[in-house]
Amino acid sequence: MNIDKQSPIPIYYQIMEQVKAQIKSGELKPDMPLPSEREYAEQFGISRMTVRQALSNLVNEGFLYRQKGRGTFVSKLKMEQALQGLTSFTEDMKSRGMRPSSRLIDYQLIDSTEELAAILGCGHPSRIHKITRVRLANDIPMAIEASHIPFELAGELNQSHFKSSIYEHIERYNSTPISRAKQELEPSAATQDEANILGIQEGAPVLLIKRTTYLQNGTAFEHVKSVYRGDRYTFVHYMDRLS
Ligand code: GLP
Repeated sequence: MNIDKQSPIPIYYQIMEQVKAQIKSGELKPDMPLPSEREYAEQFGISRMTVRQALSNLVNEGFLYRQKGRGTFVSKLKMEQALQGLTSFTEDMKSRGMRPSSRLIDYQLIDSTEELAAILGCGHPSRIHKITRVRLANDIPMAIEASHIPFELAGELNQSHFKSSIYEHIERYNSTPISRAKQELEPSAATQDEANILGIQEGAPVLLIKRTTYLQNGTAFEHVKSVYRGDRYTFVHYMDRLS
């Protein structure tokens, strides 16, 4: 690593960029410990405060993680998402120790199309919430989700619902647990709009996911189209050999 103290680029930012480059090149591997703040500070003749600022930013951006009393380690750049368990985005991120959040891009109360009514098995015409949100982990955009949820299964929705877990709301509102889903995955390339929202290059690989999710009583309550960042997600499927 080279720090240029004469450069107009702040030193903490130079450290961040170089650690990121080392992670991307594989020089720093997942779960490897990083040198301590003191070691970095001595190596470059800079203050520990500056090193701390750089490392804290990288922790917040998900590149590094800290363990109490043990130090700072390299995160897996890609999140593994198991394809078995039916989880919500909020549960997924919390189980990884990350802070989930959402940004509403668009909300409309629409009339069902024939296609939607058939997928959701709801009456036609009927009213459907169409909610488009960016889902973030530690403030980093991970996916764009456009959910269609029958009004009768969710009631009126407001900003506080959009900011938090829709699954929690649905289970509470219907007093029924969510039990299963059908999901389709398809590779694609980010459109210009998707790239802008997700902070990636236009044409970068993304994964399109369509999910229809059911309550325990068999009622379909959502049809979602999501665009997941290909550079942040690996979908993992565990398989038993069929006998
Ligand atoms: C995942 C699924 C979506 C689902 C969402 C609910 O991201 N891919 O289909 O709508 O979870 O998450 P939450 O309950 O946090 O809103």
